[in-house]
Amino acid sequence: MINKYSIKEILDKGILFENKKLIVEGWVRSFRHSMFIIINDGSTVKNLQIILSRNLKKKITVGSSIRVMGIIKKSFGNEQDIELKLYEIKFYSLVDNNIIQKSIIQPKTHSLEKTREQIHLRFQTTIFGCIMRIRNSISFFIHEYFNKRHFLYLHTPIITYSDCEGTGQIFQVISTSKKEKDDNKYFFNRKSYLSVSGQLEAECAIMGLGKIYTFGPVFRAENSNTKRHLSEFWMVEPEIAFYHLEDNINLAENFLKLTIRYIIDNCIEDLSFLNKNVEKWNKKKNFSILKILEIILKFSFYRVTYTEVIKILKKIEKTKNVNFIYPVYWGMDLQSEHERYLVEEYFNGIPVVVFNYPSSIKPFYMRMNDDKKTVRAMDILFPRIGEIIGGSQREERYEILINRIEKLKLNIDTLWWYLDLRKFGSVPHSGFGLGFDRFVQFITGMNNIRDVVPFPRTPGYTKL
Ligand code: 4AD
Ligand code: MG
Repeated sequence: MINKYSIKEILDKGILFENKKLIVEGWVRSFRHSMFIIINDGSTVKNLQIILSRNLKKKITVGSSIRVMGIIKKSFGNEQDIELKLYEIKFYSLVDNNIIQKSIIQPKTHSLEKTREQIHLRFQTTIFGCIMRIRNSISFFIHEYFNKRHFLYLHTPIITYSDCEGTGQIFQVISTSKKEKDDNKYFFNRKSYLSVSGQLEAECAIMGLGKIYTFGPVFRAENSNTKRHLSEFWMVEPEIAFYHLEDNINLAENFLKLTIRYIIDNCIEDLSFLNKNVEKWNKKKNFSILKILEIILKFSFYRVTYTEVIKILKKIEKTKNVNFIYPVYWGMDLQSEHERYLVEEYFNGIPVVVFNYPSSIKPFYMRMNDDKKTVRAMDILFPRIGEIIGGSQREERYEILINRIEKLKLNIDTLWWYLDLRKFGSVPHSGFGLGFDRFVQFITGMNNIRDVVPFPRTPGYTKL
């Protein structure tokens, strides 16, 4: 029997496979000098070269799907160590050359905007293959990271009736059943929404399980059409009992660094391909993803309070003559322009953890500090991205929490159970949320978050 192998398996074995007869399947990337077919099967960024020993009767076109049987030989070309000498070829589907010309499959440089218009074909491009493999490796490592540290993976509901972040930018869930319309009744007997975060449910779980993490899709109806916002994105949310803000920050820093380390160690071929091209896509000279990633690994993240940040920004405005669009004052929400200036210019590209934010700009669940003005919040700011993680120590004291809920006029009906938790063995606890897609965007060096998501959803856009 002749075994079938992926291109990755074949290239990983390299010369050890010399003279081995095998089957491989893939899509034609190019056909040169009537003699070399270059194929790829998605398993690696690298292609396999097939050598023809005779002329084929069919005209081979780019994008066509084939199955080949042949024997591995040492290659005398410079570009590869081994190649496949063809014995037998089967065409699954030959692509019409005229169609290829108009598509992003045609082997020439296409703008990322154009590839976004052909979402269903993007997976066949080299760049998107690299991004998807890296995205996969990041997901895999995240599970491994938490699993090794005995965090339980918790599935929190997608349909919920609480607005965790209290921003009101949520999608309502309604059924299309006629009954729901006729009776003017809700399917779940009350208004329900797509979840913006699994945190509140995660807090229930840790009260018995100690430490958990969630990793799933969340939905936000913010009308922010930026390069960092999606309406549907994935979030990783660890939540830990008996954990203080400092523990939380330490965990987040370690988690981000080890994930980046893992990707550099395990996805270097894909990263290197992206690294060669990002300068062009980002339209920035000397842009190197690898350099940026190494800086993250090399230095400890800066840790500064919100109050210190405001002082720094004010000083920058005065001494450096920088004009921010949004005015700087104590109590304002940091905007992307402030976050990026702080990390990229003031702290030279080293991430910054900003903590102790004013309670007025943070959600109800964060633990109040003794100054009664600030809460134990922490945001991690990255170069290029701005906020990548948002987290906090949670308010575990019943009286203080209920006061806050009442002051903010939140609906106790939807939060009674959250309050109830504070009566049954309440403990100091903390957690954070990592914007998974923003993290993939950062690691791959892409300029637009839509280019790192298989099927992006943004305001006014659900193409495919
Ligand atoms: O800061 P956020 O809103 O925090 C929470 O939802 C907390 N409940 C998390 C927790 O403590 N368990 O969101 C967390 C992260 C942000 O730092 C950002 O990286 C990402 O989610 N994020 C988005 N990513 C893409 N598109 C959007 N519209 C995003 N909004 C937030
Ligand atoms: Mg936030």
